[in-house]
Amino acid sequence: MTRSETLQQYYSLHSRIYDATRWSFLFGRGRLLREVALRFSPARILEIGCGTGVNLLRLGRLFPRAQLTGIDTSAAMLGIARRKLRAFGDRVELREGYYSAPLGVSPAPELVCFSYCLSMIHPGLDEAIAAATADLAPGGSIAVVDFHGSRHRWFRAWMQANHVRMEEHLLPVLRSRFDADLASVGTAYGGLWQYFYFLGRLSKDTTPDPSAQGTRAWPRDPRSQTSPAI
Ligand SMILES: C[S@@+](CC[C@H](N)C(=O)[O-])C[C@H]1O[C@@H](n2cnc3c(N)ncnc32)[C@H](O)[C@@H]1O
Repeated sequence: MTRSETLQQYYSLHSRIYDATRWSFLFGRGRLLREVALRFSPARILEIGCGTGVNLLRLGRLFPRAQLTGIDTSAAMLGIARRKLRAFGDRVELREGYYSAPLGVSPAPELVCFSYCLSMIHPGLDEAIAAATADLAPGGSIAVVDFHGSRHRWFRAWMQANHVRMEEHLLPVLRSRFDADLASVGTAYGGLWQYFYFLGRLSKDTTPDPSAQGTRAWPRDPRSQTSPAI
């Protein structure tokens, strides 16, 4: 079974309870988008792994003139997103597919979001980040919120059984690829796990070569913040 098929099977069941349950553990999604809105007002936004459209709905309200594109590999999740976002009309485009190469959305998005998606992309993390880098407009931003880690081995194993890799591997990769405006870690349920936010930019002088497969290290922004929890 391919990774895409595995996720489609998982979400064909979980999509039915997704919105009713995920608010209780996918922390930081609203905060990430508010942090974006404090900094700039993107005209075109792409969310990778948009799921049931929770973030696209918020983004559509935060940025009433923005054009929104979402991609997800699960038709079941997208079906819910489609109903939720109907009122936005042709401001929203939803695509079904497994993101591993640039989509070539035109004009290119000024903001690419990954919300609790990158931790599910394994293998293929480098390809997904390289694709997002190529999809971004020059000088564009990336916004990520996701699981970070847990000191409890049993919990990490439980998350792995639910297709989530929680090995503190994402933040270092993002820091090496983007100039960070915000990098911060929060704790959930008294320290059972940590999650992180990251906002970063493609710096103009390091706009990547689209043929690079995610192996290039870009400079870090010394202003980036990290909570003491890291
Ligand atoms: C935990 S859900 C998050 C959904 C949404 N972003 C949110 O914050 O509620 C992860 C979603 O990412 C999708 N996904 C995971 N890997 C993907 C990939 N490589 N390409 C497209 N969608 C992917 C899954 O199908 C699922 O809908």
